[in-house]
Formats: sequence, C-alpha cells, structure tokens
Amino acid sequence: MAKLHIRGGRRLSGEVTLQGSKNSALPILAASLMVRGTVVLHNCPDLSDVRAAVRILNSLGCKCSQLGHDVYIDASVVKCDAVPDDLMREMRSSVVFLGAILSRCASATISAPGGCELGPRPIDLHLKAIKEMGFSVNESGGYINCARESGRSKTDIILDFPSVGATENIILAATLSKGRVVLHNAAKEPEISDLADFINGAGGKIYGAGTDTVEIFGVNRLYSTEHTIIPDRIVAATYMSAVSATGGDITVKNTVPSHINAIVTRYREMGCEVNFSDDDMRVVSNRRMSRITKTRSTVYPGFPTDAGPLLVTSLALAEGTSLFVETIFDNRFNYAEELKLLGADIKVFGRLAVIEGVRSLHGANVRCTDLRGGAAAVVAALAAEGESTVDKICHIERGYENIQNALSALSADIKRE
Ligand code: EPZ
Repeated sequence: MAKLHIRGGRRLSGEVTLQGSKNSALPILAASLMVRGTVVLHNCPDLSDVRAAVRILNSLGCKCSQLGHDVYIDASVVKCDAVPDDLMREMRSSVVFLGAILSRCASATISAPGGCELGPRPIDLHLKAIKEMGFSVNESGGYINCARESGRSKTDIILDFPSVGATENIILAATLSKGRVVLHNAAKEPEISDLADFINGAGGKIYGAGTDTVEIFGVNRLYSTEHTIIPDRIVAATYMSAVSATGGDITVKNTVPSHINAIVTRYREMGCEVNFSDDDMRVVSNRRMSRITKTRSTVYPGFPTDAGPLLVTSLALAEGTSLFVETIFDNRFNYAEELKLLGADIKVFGRLAVIEGVRSLHGANVRCTDLRGGAAAVVAALAAEGESTVDKICHIERGYENIQNALSALSADIKRE
C-alpha cells in the first residue's frame, strides 16, 4: 500500500495550478455516453476515479482514452446497458452512469453501488425520481434494473433533499427522454452547472442549472462537442488549509473565486490573508490562526461538507475552541482519530466536533480514512514538528492529482513510497 513520508514544520511558499474538478469530471464523463459522436474534455484531472470512469465507458462500447488532462470519447456506438459489477463497485459515484445509460439505451442494469467510508450511501432519492420520470425500477439480487415505460410520467419532480448525485442523474435521464422535466429542490453546486453547460454545448436543452429549479427539455440526440472541466474547489480549500496550518505565502492559479466564497470567508475569519487577481488566489498566513466559534457544513453555496476535514485541521492549531457541525453525512469525522495521533485535541459527539486548538502537532504514523480525511491527515503532518507517514493514500489518489508533486512545488518535504 503506497504511503507518504512527510517532514513537517516547514512554511509553504510557491505557486501551484489548481487541478480540474473530480466531482465535475465524473458526471460529465458519464454524460459523454449520450453523445452520438465524439467528445473532447480538457482540464480533466488524472485520478483513479477518472480512470475508473474511463473503464466503465469502454465497457459500454465507447472508445475512450486519457492523454494528460485531455480525455477523448467516441460514443458513436454503445454496445450494452449493463455496467460490470467490479467496475460499479470501484467507486461510489458510478451510480451517475445510471441516468446516462437510461437516456441513451432506454434501459439499464447496475449493481447497487458500494457504500463508502462516509457511511451508507443510499440512492433512494435517485430511484424515486427515476420512477416518477416514467422508468420501471426493479431491485433484485443486488442489481437494479430500470427501463423506460410508455405512458404517463410526471413533469414536476420534487427532491426531498437537494442531493448532488440525484440532481445529476435526473438531468442525465431526462436529457434524451421525450417531454419536459422540471426538477424542484435541485442541488445548486457548481458541478451541476458545469454538467448542464457540457450537455447544452452538445445540443441539450437544460435551463436553470445552479438554481433550485432545473428545467430539462428532452432532445433526440447530442452532437460532438468539446468542453473544459471547471477547477476543483475542494482542492483549493485543501491548499488554504495547508497554508493556514503551516504558515506561508502561496499562489493558487486557475481558481474560480465565486465557487469558494464560503470557504474563503472562513479562512479570512481565522486570520489568513486571501486575495485574488483574476483567477489567481494568493493565501498568506503569518501568525497563529484564531478559532471560529461554530461552522456548519451545508449545501452550496454554504460551507461544503468536503472542506470540513480541512477546516477542522486548521482549527486544530488555532487559538481557542471551535465547533464544527456536519449536517450532510453520518460519519464524516473518522479522520479525527488520526489527527489525535498527531497531537490534535478533537472530541466528536455524533455530528458535532469540538476542537481545542493546540500550539503544535508532532510527527506520527497515520492512515487515510477516506478521501478528504486523508487530505486532512496530510495537512496535519505538514504542520507537525518532525517526521510522519501517511498510509493508505489510495484514498487520496481518488481525488488529488499527484499530491506529493503539488505540495513539493510549495516547498513541502514530502515523498511517496
Ligand atoms: C457528492 O456526493 C460528492 N461526490 C461528494 O463528494 C459530496 O460530499 C456530496 O456530493 C455533497 O456535496 C461526487 O460528486 C462524486 P448527495 P453525493 O447525494 O452525490 C443522502 C468527495 O469528497 N442521500 O448530495 O453522493 C446522502 O447519504 C465526495 O469528493 C440520500 O439519503 O452526495 C448524504 O447524506 C464525498 N439518498 C446526503 O444525502 C439519496 O438517494 C448528500 O448526498 C442520495 C443522497
């Protein structure tokens, strides 16, 4: 199992370019399946989850390959509608292929997606909406079989919760279906807007993405297109957390300031200087951070759950007591135990974490509990005095492209074994 060796206690300085967004690339790769032609994606991050999505596309008969940050997909011919189990289980977000396959093939068979470290990952909201859109949904033996039915389907779909994945699946399933769907209480994350921009660029008719009401007019087909993936706002949060924990002065290029307002506000509140010139973000930290009395994770444009582990790591070194309330996932605090091995003082009560800031952390051997928890462990090790190892970095490599190179460019002493 690969691990990182980190010698902490060094201030960060230098410049890094923000990678493309994992959570935008994955649904857009799925959407490429609906294009009866070729797709070229730019700024696509080179991640294990992206490679898994490429394998799923190839298993469905597409000709798909990645060259650096460009991905080429030819989905002129799609040969089947069942994603192989092993590929389905490789990543949680493979469920987003369901909507794309239904649009293109009118039927789909997927295995119930695996859960993940954040706890059970139900897809009841996805399936309820797909039924209301006029598809049959039969679950048996760990498989979900869906097929377009003739007859009435509801135009207005109301999500009980603004689920990102369910919003994406509904948009995908409606894109090539007859008629019109109006989705209410939709997720408003920037990745939803990026998906709609991609589909509309290929001839789709989606209006209102990025708001809580999205209107989709079904079209007959999608045409060859080219698209650039938006930058990753959570990786931007990770760099802010690293500087606030170690001290330093860095520039992150290719950000979208409007996507990270809620995150930047918190780091400024702690005492970081964050300034933008166009898409470049400069983050400076020359003193110990101050606490933030209480932060709650919530849906966009609020403070994102994925940036929670990174903020908690910064608060672990801040002066004073901070509270973090997680409102999206059941057990998002698994990483806290690893931070405590490095000397953090964090008490978790269900969805509440109480963080007593300490003056310093010390090196230790820790492991990644999940993607963002793993990134938090790396940030804590960068700040810790002495040597640390971070094990099970496969979790990190799902969402961070070459994290050791990116952090080395910022003067960190980090090596991958
Ligand atoms: C997406 O997951 C992201 N993943 C997650 O990022 C992110 O944390 C999450 O959105 C929230 O922003 C991708 O985009 C690939 P949800 P998703 O559906 O779509 C419950 C990362 O770190 N729920 O908005 O699965 C669910 O259990 C990952 O990159 C249901 O109950 O998130 C959770 O508690 C982690 N039933 C909440 O809603 C459903 O049918 C939010 O889930 C669907 C979701």
